[in-house]
Amino acid sequence: MQSPKQEKLQQNLLSELRRRPFALAPMAGITDHAFRSFMKKNGAGIVVTELVSATGLEYKSKKTQALMSFDEDQRPVGIQLFGDNPEHLAHAAKLVEEVGADFVDLNFGCPVPKVVKKGAGSAMMKDLPAMKKVLQSVVRAVEIPVTIKIRTGWDQSSRNALDVCRLALDEGVTWVAIHGRTRAQGYSGLADWDFIGDIKAKTQIPVIGNGDIHTGHQAVSRLKDYGCDGVMIGRGCLKNPLIFQEAQNLLEKNNIHVEKDYVRLFSGLKQELVSRCDDHITQIQLKKFAAWFASGFPGAAQFRKNIFQSKTTDEILLTANNFFETVKISHQEDTSGEGFLLGGHG
Ligand SMILES: Cc1cc2nc3c(=O)[nH]c(=O)nc-3n(C[C@H](O)[C@H](O)[C@H](O)COP(=O)(O)O)c2cc1C
Repeated sequence: MQSPKQEKLQQNLLSELRRRPFALAPMAGITDHAFRSFMKKNGAGIVVTELVSATGLEYKSKKTQALMSFDEDQRPVGIQLFGDNPEHLAHAAKLVEEVGADFVDLNFGCPVPKVVKKGAGSAMMKDLPAMKKVLQSVVRAVEIPVTIKIRTGWDQSSRNALDVCRLALDEGVTWVAIHGRTRAQGYSGLADWDFIGDIKAKTQIPVIGNGDIHTGHQAVSRLKDYGCDGVMIGRGCLKNPLIFQEAQNLLEKNNIHVEKDYVRLFSGLKQELVSRCDDHITQIQLKKFAAWFASGFPGAAQFRKNIFQSKTTDEILLTANNFFETVKISHQEDTSGEGFLLGGHG
């Protein structure tokens, strides 16, 4: 049974999802504090940290604790936990609540062998009794909403996402985000949106669909065609940082138009990075994001070479600004058929 406070927090989070249904997917090494603030300012709805080790928190690792930092401007923000030990996960969820996050998200989708070997991440989808124990102890430990992120199943012959949704509903979970691939698929093939839509139609729990959304049009059509409560966008916003604004505009005003001011965008990203990272990290991140943002624009290959040769932050900004000035009037080619970041923790 939920307390009135739990019920209220859950309803508040779900109403925010209805208002802004395009969520930023958690991506380790990418959706850190700075990038979440940047994306939030550029139209993302709900945001989630990258995966944080419950065991790392149990042992008070400073590096792990640092992953939980966020700003008020990111709300609603969730902190994603992974682990196999229900007690560690419950303690970690309490810490998530103490630092003031709006919800705790559990990672049941990570396919990485190191994680899976210990029974965490997507391995939980093979062991629903273990998942049930984790859900019970985490939901009992906190008042903030608990959400989960899963894959469609372990492999093609055991696609049990519907069973997981039913279990999650019984245990008081607020939503299930589904990456439309099995663990066995890794990042190959395409996310199976028909499968996600079928689950949505058969379950009462709110469902957030995820996988292979590259444009604002796709985000809105996935939301509407498959009846999902939200859609989660990961790699798509790295090549198209305007995707959230495009999708929200399309949904609210039936007009996708967003000003393509990449110079302003890039300067905003720089400000977020400078305020949180040292010079070395700022430069690495700026180069990486500049290279991704340039995807599909004329001259992107030469631009990437130039940007990676830049030696100082000022040089990176000058090179990027010269290139991004031209982008306003350029056509961005569709590069979604090219393999891109074919590995991750979910
Ligand atoms: C580099 C990278 C890191 C990721 N890290 C996480 C993570 O920490 N937690 C998680 O649940 N999923 C993680 N994922 C999976 C994404 O959240 C998402 O499910 C997946 O990329 C499919 O969505 P997309 O096609 O929109 O990128 C990661 C994906 C990538 C590419």
